[in-house]
Amino acid sequence: MSIRYVVQTGDPVLRQKCTEVKNFNKELCDLLDDMKVTVRAEQGAGLAAPQVGVPLRVVVIDVGEGYFELVNPVIISTKGEQTGAEGCLSVKGKQGTVTRPNKVKAEYRDRKGKKHKLTADGFFARAVCHELDHLDGILYTDKASEVYDLPPEDV
Ligand code: CO
Repeated sequence: MSIRYVVQTGDPVLRQKCTEVKNFNKELCDLLDDMKVTVRAEQGAGLAAPQVGVPLRVVVIDVGEGYFELVNPVIISTKGEQTGAEGCLSVKGKQGTVTRPNKVKAEYRDRKGKKHKLTADGFFARAVCHELDHLDGILYTDKASEVYDLPPEDV
């Protein structure tokens, strides 16, 4: 497992429409393992494969409700609305205000190709929407009503 470089806004890979995973092979497992250590190292809530330069429909999410690996995820229904703050590991030093559904249901496959469903509320739903947008080349800054600079971190 190794931490991969997280590409920053301006890199064309972030604007690509990602392709579906067809081969549930070792390469996919390696990608998922690397994404896990990368999102943890960066202390992110989620990470999409194009953010590590791989234009495949793969995301990982961890917002404190368990660690999820979503391969070929699709949102099948949404409910309600929430407006709140959002950031992205590929848009460093910024945050924005984005309106998202308050609840989403999604279907996805795991690393072995097995189908699953999930229901997400609140911040988890926001993370699912944000990460799935990455797979279609969409950044939160495209949808934000405002984007602002974060104060520099006290380290
Ligand atoms: Co992001």
